[in-house]
This record gives sequence, structure tokens and C-alpha cells, in this order.
Amino acid sequence: MKSEFWHERWQSGRIGFHQAQVNCFLQRYWSALMAAGKGRVLVPLCGKSLDMLWLREQGHEVTGVELSDLACQAFMSGLGVDAPARQEAGFAIREHEGLQLLCGDFFALPEVSYEEVRWVYDRAALIAFPADMRRAYAQSLIHNLPEGVAILLITLEFADQQGPPFSVSEPEVRELYGERFEVEKLETERSVGRGGRAEAESVYVLRDR
Ligand SMILES: C[S@@+](CC[C@H](N)C(=O)[O-])C[C@H]1O[C@@H](n2cnc3c(N)ncnc32)[C@H](O)[C@@H]1O
Repeated sequence: MKSEFWHERWQSGRIGFHQAQVNCFLQRYWSALMAAGKGRVLVPLCGKSLDMLWLREQGHEVTGVELSDLACQAFMSGLGVDAPARQEAGFAIREHEGLQLLCGDFFALPEVSYEEVRWVYDRAALIAFPADMRRAYAQSLIHNLPEGVAILLITLEFADQQGPPFSVSEPEVRELYGERFEVEKLETERSVGRGGRAEAESVYVLRDR
């Protein structure tokens, strides 16, 4: 999956993945499972997701990582904020009241960006990548996240293998993350998606062993 693909999607406004509401699984599970205390939440491949605002409202600091500068600008202007970007280590960084957006390639994220992270929220990040990149993505998290982190992960499963989004099964989640994390599936919601396709959306909590 080339970065041009995503830049083109943002330029042409083909961002059907963006949700106008805060994600219902995030609201259902976060407080009970994840947020003992406050701390930094890493949101990989964040787009302009309103979920970051919700997490901020829960008292967390939030770091979103996103390839598209259009997405980062749209997120900040949605807040009515003019947050000028500063350049650091190949990323354009915008900050506003506990929200930090790092515009650049997730795979180039410097180790220091992981240091304060206590939780990861992944909605439509793992499933945005084809198989080889999913492995590289999971390995980045496994090797860089500090001890004691937990991940709230939302995946999608369906018969067609064309993507993105890509179908990710429970065995694959266990295979990708099992070397470090205990994987618990919390819920699966079945629905009929685009073009009448049967889909199963699953929510997992991944706890450091
Ligand atoms: C399917 S969207 C999900 C966005 C967001 N998580 C949401 O729920 O709306 C995937 C996003 O990841 C971004 N992206 C893709 N590859 C990336 C990479 N290597 N590094 C950072 N962002 C990336 C894309 O620009 C796109 O906004």
C-alpha cells in the first residue's frame, strides 16, 4: 500500500472510513477496560477521527499519527484551531490542549514518540494494511511500546480479500500480537456492509503479559 494511495483518497475526498460520530465500541469499552488513571493514548493512522477528541475529553493526552497533512489540517480546523506545524524528525507536528498530531509515516515514528504511551487505540489502522504491512505494523508496536500498555483494537472480517479495508481474522490477531500480548475478544457485531457484503466487526483488548 503506497502512501500516494492515501494522499489521493484525502485529496479526492474519498474518506468513507471517517465516522461522523464517536465510535460506539470505544465508548462502550474504554472506561471499563482501559483507563485506570490518565495517560497518553497513541492513535496510529488516526485520520481526522473524532475519537481522539473523545479520548481527550476523558482526560487523556492523545498522540495521533497520520500520513495526510490534509487530514491533520482538517482535524485542527474542525476544532476551530489554527495550529501551525513545526517540523521535527521528518514529522509535521501540530499540538493543541493535550492533542498532538504527528503528520508522517507511522513506520518512521521515532522511538521517543512511544515513551509516554500507556494505551493504543486502533480503529481502522491494522485493517488498512495488506498482510505484509500488518505484520510490520504489529511488530513496530510490539518492539516499541513501553511495558504495561494495553491496546483496544477494532477489526473487520469479510469474505472478499480486496482492500483496504482488509479482512483480519481472530487467529491472525492472535498470531500477530500473541508473542507479547494476551488477546481477549470482547464482542463481534455482524452486519451487511457495502454492496450487500456480510461483515463482522470485532473488538479486542490486548494486554501486556
Ligand atoms: C482507514 S483510515 C482510518 C482513519 C481513522 N483511524 C478513522 O477511524 O477514521 C487509515 C488512515 O491511515 C492513514 N495512513 C495510511 N498509511 C499510513 C502510514 N504509513 N502512516 C500514517 N498514516 C497512514 C491514511 O491516510 C488514512 O487516513
